[in-house]
Amino acid sequence: MTVVTGGDVAAKVVAWQEQHGRNHLPWQQMRDPYRVWLSEIMLQQTQVATVLDYYARFLARFPDVAALAAADQDAVMGLWSGLGYYSRARNLHKCARAVVEQHGGAFPQTAELLMTLPGIGRSTAGAIAAFCFSERTAILDANVRRVLTRLLAFGNDLAVSRNENLLWDRATELLPSTDLTLTMPRYTQGLMDLGATICTPKAPRCDRCPLADTCSAFAQRNPEKYPVKTRKLIRRAESWWLLVLLSADTRVWLERRPPSGIWAGMHCVPVFPGRQQLDEFLAPLAAGVADVRTWELPASLHILTHRDLHLHAVVASGDLAVTNGAEGAWFGEAQWSGIGLPAPIRKLLYDTRQQGLL
Ligand code: ADE
Repeated sequence: MTVVTGGDVAAKVVAWQEQHGRNHLPWQQMRDPYRVWLSEIMLQQTQVATVLDYYARFLARFPDVAALAAADQDAVMGLWSGLGYYSRARNLHKCARAVVEQHGGAFPQTAELLMTLPGIGRSTAGAIAAFCFSERTAILDANVRRVLTRLLAFGNDLAVSRNENLLWDRATELLPSTDLTLTMPRYTQGLMDLGATICTPKAPRCDRCPLADTCSAFAQRNPEKYPVKTRKLIRRAESWWLLVLLSADTRVWLERRPPSGIWAGMHCVPVFPGRQQLDEFLAPLAAGVADVRTWELPASLHILTHRDLHLHAVVASGDLAVTNGAEGAWFGEAQWSGIGLPAPIRKLLYDTRQQGLL
């Protein structure tokens, strides 16, 4: 049986990170909690390559937490548009306000306090505290969970919170215990880098792993067995019918989505569960209007974590009788980039325009 000791593992991860890890990302080599926090939130569920552009644009517009706190929610959602998982953007804005209103504009400096802020879970709090303040505190995002469950051959079901807590305890035991100012940021980044580049979900590259000789899953010749999860994600397929209403002056009718659920709080064209409901909504608007034309666009598939959305869009143009109201308004193209639009809706609007329908 392999005996894993904390100092051993930490030293190997730190040395490996220095030589082989990622050291030139824009949120590294500095300890500004605003920038580190922003990068960690963007990197939840999103690849580094995608985040880079969004991160630069976001910082150019909101260079510090005070600027973000003072921003309009729509401007924040607009800059997030396309990154997905929009509750992150809403919480980001709430968090900036909380930092300004409750902490005098400075992020708290411990994981325990950071966790009290909107949108900052235990692992993100740990990452910020380790990167910025060298706190001796663990992280356990999906990548790190994979690395550690394999290292320890941790076979308990992580959907059970007692097991999850056990793994947190083990992660804490493995942390570096000397020279924390240097080792904590490097160790934390090293675990993330190992998970992203070596200890991958499928076909991990154990031949290049600095922990292979202490890894229990490697000794068992079965790294892919870990992490063990019994609760399967239940996916559902749904059809959504989208109505693109075009005014005579080529603006589009957009409504705000409900405050919870898919695309919560974002702007969107009216959505219906079927073609029939869409037609029933359209009929009274079009009644008595001479020049109404409708087209159906090719269907597309949009994949979310728990849903496969089959999107069907119908475009209706003419002098339609929807008026500005509490739930919606007409938006011209110049306004689309400044509001929060889900990526497929943004694409739908630009595709419609490109095809000369707008
Ligand atoms: N994923 C989450 N945090 C990260 C970081 N700091 N660097 C690279 N990928 C990450």
